[in-house]
Amino acid sequence: MTEKVGVVGSGTMGTGIAQVLAAAGNHVVLLDVAIERVQRAIASIESILMKQVAKGKIAEETVRETVANISPTTDYQDLATCTIVIEAVFEDLNAKKAVIEAVSSVAPEAILATNTSSISISRLAALHPVPAQVVGMHFFNPVPLMPLVEVIRAEQTSDAVVARVMELANQCGKTAVEVADVPGFAVNRLLIPMINEAIICLESGVASREALDQTMTLGASHPMGPLALADLIGLDVVLSIMEVLHRDLGEDKYRPAVMLRRMVAAGRLGRKSGQGFYAYN
Ligand code: CAA
Repeated sequence: MTEKVGVVGSGTMGTGIAQVLAAAGNHVVLLDVAIERVQRAIASIESILMKQVAKGKIAEETVRETVANISPTTDYQDLATCTIVIEAVFEDLNAKKAVIEAVSSVAPEAILATNTSSISISRLAALHPVPAQVVGMHFFNPVPLMPLVEVIRAEQTSDAVVARVMELANQCGKTAVEVADVPGFAVNRLLIPMINEAIICLESGVASREALDQTMTLGASHPMGPLALADLIGLDVVLSIMEVLHRDLGEDKYRPAVMLRRMVAAGRLGRKSGQGFYAYN
């Protein structure tokens, strides 16, 4: 069954989420503060899909259908008839609070799924007039290529809401796993400390950045090394997740690497800033 799904936020994650929902035949209302941002997001989806056409992987008609399934907007009223709204704005409690208030006032019966990677879902649910309708739906970057969605049940989430979003994830070709509402959920609890440890290894001279990345690509069959992955995720995001793990789990093993803090302070955030552990054009 297809749904009418709102996606709030047209950054990397929101764009990827809109793409996979639309490709699966859902009608997507993609909202951001400026219409140019949403239009840019839709153009980037079209361009990625056209590359697939050039490789003979999909038909041009599929691209047209996918893009036609996405309606750009800056007006929350356009979310009024959505059955599910996925929030993918930046990781800031006040920004998420504003989205929850706006969505719950125009679409009071819609499920509100948040793509947060570091804020407690139970805390966000408490900001909604019907907390049982709030759930975590955590996608991975790059969304169209990563098969997993973590579904996070807040203290307040109803069983029916968990079942609905698991079904939506499956309908988009993803595998959904249910995880508890704990800091970092499951993937980031495992992945981000590994990246942090790689940075500590780099700063303490265990090996060069290339060699460290090779240890994990060639020695553990990871698709990319931890430092290259940090650049993909964004060093600011890696730092903020480490800070949440350190603060909320209270153990020294989660202390962010000094070098990570220094690089974020210098604006070396990885691919998005053109410089991280590696340089990008
Ligand atoms: N839509 C559709 N197809 C796309 C696409 C998109 N948006 N982007 C790329 N593709 C296509 C490419 O065109 C390419 O097609 P061909 O095979 O026909 O050439 C194909 O997908 C593979 O692209 P690449 O050659 O660039 O991909 P790769 O094989 O080098 O793999 C990768 C790239 C998927 C990023 C892989 O290196 C990988 O899995 N890395 C690990 C990523 C990871 O761990 N992500 C999780 C981060 S943590 C997170 O997201 C959570 C958080 O809260 C921080």
